[in-house]
Amino acid sequence: MEILEAKELITKANGKAVTLNGLLPPVYGWDEFIQKLHYNYHQPNTSESPFSDFSHGEMQKRHNFYTLAFNPTEQHFPGLETLIGKLNEITDRPCTGRSTLANFIGGEPEVEVHFDIQDHLYWQVIGTSEWRIYKEKDGPYISHPLEPGDAIWVPHHTLHTIITPVPRAAFTFGWIPFGHKPFWEN
Ligand SMILES: [Fe+2]
Repeated sequence: MEILEAKELITKANGKAVTLNGLLPPVYGWDEFIQKLHYNYHQPNTSESPFSDFSHGEMQKRHNFYTLAFNPTEQHFPGLETLIGKLNEITDRPCTGRSTLANFIGGEPEVEVHFDIQDHLYWQVIGTSEWRIYKEKDGPYISHPLEPGDAIWVPHHTLHTIITPVPRAAFTFGWIPFGHKPFWEN
């Protein structure tokens, strides 16, 4: 998908979540995600979270086979900076957060419906997922199924959960919302 087209879809969505089908080709495989997780596991411990039942080094485990690894770089994902540069052109500001998500088993319990304080973009690389977007926590939801190469733009404070029916690997990227200070300056 071209940058202009993605920008238009986000603008048209006007503060709502929107799927960007085929935003970036899914150029990475399990090897890269596993090596990244291995690397973060062996870094000094900086990753405590109330959402995690186990953290070690710079990684967190959220369910039995659901892991998060922080700050992916060119070291494990060659070409990543170019991809992020393209995303920054779409969002008109520099990316301020990035992680990889990997579920080695599908069908684990979904994360609770929640919102995040940054605008973010989730990029499906391996497997599929279904994003469910809510107006209110127990209300109806809009389903956004994602295939490898698809992405979803999720503005800050959008209620959501993610269903992961099969093993998957993905990235999330965050941007501070326009007009907001970074949370670490508040
Ligand atoms: Fe989230």
